[in-house]
Amino acid sequence: MPADITIHLIEAGGRRHTLQAATGRTLMQAAVDAGIDGVAADCGGSLVCATCHVIVDEAWRGRFPAPSGDERAMLEMTATPAEPGSRLSCQLTLDAALDGLEVRLPATQY
Ligand code: FES
Repeated sequence: MPADITIHLIEAGGRRHTLQAATGRTLMQAAVDAGIDGVAADCGGSLVCATCHVIVDEAWRGRFPAPSGDERAMLEMTATPAEPGSRLSCQLTLDAALDGLEVRLPATQY
């Protein structure tokens, strides 16, 4: 059964957004639903746009499965170069263990 968890998204300029997000949704869906401008998600989660780039805080990186080959390939197409912790948020499904998750948003998605 879905439950709400708290997630934090921090813009490149430092502005912090704290949201309640339902488990079972992707991080991209939660950000888009909350109207976070820093996540564009042009392809709607089909893994073809790389405009849902986020950088997962170091403390949380190990909580996600490793990126697929397709995600890794798309991470080479991000407008802001990928760095350690970079992921495509449409590939990150929220679960109860991610309560408190913190991610940074890149300076730009284009
Ligand atoms: S929304 Fe397009 S790759 Fe994630």
